[in-house]
Amino acid sequence: MEITVNNLTKRFEDKLAVNDISFSIGEHEFLVLVGPSGCGKTTTLRLLAGLEMTSAGEIYFGERRVNDIRPKDRNVAMVFQDYAVFPHLTVFENIAYGLRSRRVARNIIQESVPAAAKTFRIDHLLKRKPRQLSGGERQRVALARALVRDADIYLYDEPLSNLDAQLRHQAREDILALHQRKLRPSIYVTHDQSEAMALGDRIAVMRGGKIEQIGTGTELYERPNNQFVAFFIGTPSINLFQVTLRGEGEVIWADSSAFSIRLPEELYPKIRSHVGKKVQFGIRPEDLHVPKRAPFPVDADTMIGGVVNVIEPSSTGSSVYMSTLGEKSQDFVATFNLRLPATYLNKEIELAMNLRRAHVFDLETEKSLLYS
Ligand SMILES: Nc1ncnc2c1ncn2[C@@H]1O[C@H](COP(=O)(O)OP(=O)(O)OP(=O)(O)O)[C@@H](O)[C@H]1O
Ligand SMILES: [Mg+2]
Repeated sequence: MEITVNNLTKRFEDKLAVNDISFSIGEHEFLVLVGPSGCGKTTTLRLLAGLEMTSAGEIYFGERRVNDIRPKDRNVAMVFQDYAVFPHLTVFENIAYGLRSRRVARNIIQESVPAAAKTFRIDHLLKRKPRQLSGGERQRVALARALVRDADIYLYDEPLSNLDAQLRHQAREDILALHQRKLRPSIYVTHDQSEAMALGDRIAVMRGGKIEQIGTGTELYERPNNQFVAFFIGTPSINLFQVTLRGEGEVIWADSSAFSIRLPEELYPKIRSHVGKKVQFGIRPEDLHVPKRAPFPVDADTMIGGVVNVIEPSSTGSSVYMSTLGEKSQDFVATFNLRLPATYLNKEIELAMNLRRAHVFDLETEKSLLYS
């Protein structure tokens, strides 16, 4: 069953929490909704679950318009952002709670509760009370309780926010395993872009009640439609520089106080309209290379110079925080899959930009000139 949302809008008094969004989710799809705090993620889920009435727009589960269908008749399972377990009930009874209130037969409860507990690796804790559990175990009880039922749609509202990195990783895998077993449309909300990249078949990036872009992780990373998406996806974030596009014969240059680079010809059809104007030029930290190790031909017209301020080792190499040299010095960051020795601190170095992977945004609209 596909889920389709058309022009969905939710207004709280004068606040537009969800502003005219449309998308659909495939029968087996796992969609991640990501965006900064207050952008409307929870409200979108609550509208789908029927916990909020729509102000405008339509929600379809398959062919069925569900706008006027009560929450309990929509057959949605939802894990809430501020999960709570019942302190006076055992783990077993906590998980069984939703089934009992739906009058599910006793023998089915006896089967499905341990199965759900097993999925989330808490099957050895069924007799305990919540106060005898760690925070991570308690969160798993909340997950098992929400997900024990066979639902038509699964909604997850930042379910792992209270877990440490390792438990989060495990619980994420448990959720994916559950999804692959049930294969129902699912929406997973997070404000963490790396979690979104790890989980989503597709990702929808939200801001201010709107969906900015929806696509696979690779699409959002390589072909962001606008500056917000470019900045939000990828870590560390993309470097942005205000430049002026200058035409010189057949060539287009990007000039800033810190550098002057010759842009590759394949960009010209898209950027020619902006020659003579200021634009925002974006280059990801991964696309800056030590010249000797660059996987593309390097020449003086692709270089950016800077002073190394901080070298931060990472599991795969290092993130190097730098400032440009010109009069209006600007910070930027490069990531390398090698450990840059500490002797480079406070030194000046030159890096080569992989300009085929550069981005150019209109200064006013913030739309990508290359990919929108
Ligand atoms: N019941 C309500 N009454 C009035 N305003 C609300 C209500 N619920 C949410 N809002 C407002 O709507 C906007 C979207 O809220 P929502 O909870 O959907 O954000 P969110 O993306 O889930 O944020 P977070 O990441 O912090 O959980 C916010 O500005 C919020 O203050
Ligand atoms: Mg929320």
